[in-house]
Amino acid sequence: QPINCEPLKALVRGVPDFPKPGILFYDITTLLKDQTGFAQLIDAFAQYYIDKHVDLVLGIEARGFIFGPALAYRLNAGFVPVRKPGKLPAETATIKYDLEYGSDSLQIHKDAIQPGQRVIIVDDLLATGGTMLATTQLVKQLGGEIVGLTVAIELDFLKGRAKFPDMDVFSLMHYDE
Ligand code: PRP
Ligand code: MG
Repeated sequence: QPINCEPLKALVRGVPDFPKPGILFYDITTLLKDQTGFAQLIDAFAQYYIDKHVDLVLGIEARGFIFGPALAYRLNAGFVPVRKPGKLPAETATIKYDLEYGSDSLQIHKDAIQPGQRVIIVDDLLATGGTMLATTQLVKQLGGEIVGLTVAIELDFLKGRAKFPDMDVFSLMHYDE
């Protein structure tokens, strides 16, 4: 059945001028601390993926680590962290990606995905899509099959979704500004 996301959106707090003037920050901590809201969010993700044979849930540091493991548990899937540089101890694959100013990198353990494993990638937010795109490139490097991309919040006006014309992007809450 379709998911009514208005009650979830009501639990997200908009904080003006954070982290800098002119930016409206969508704060999910108010949703996370709500017992019903957090459960509904994870249930909604799980309902969408439960029949899609997901082997691994990848979470993107840092806020993808909040939703990813809860969802993996519900899907009987494994959880894989995609981390900022220098955090993972074993052999890693690295992807560099551009930010508004400068660049950043993400890493994954090379043995985290076996070729052909079915993967979803989870993060809190899809903005420009740069972080998510970089993560899809890591998955492809390791031979994983991407079943879908999952975020709690999509900022529609930034058109991040356009970076993934061939992928299934599932977002629970949409914002136009
Ligand atoms: C934020 C957010 C997403 C990303 C979305 O993470 O949590 O991961 O930006 O932006 P994009 O779609 O334009 O790439 P951030 O880099 O601030 O780091 P954090 O999650 O560690 O706080
Ligand atoms: Mg992030």
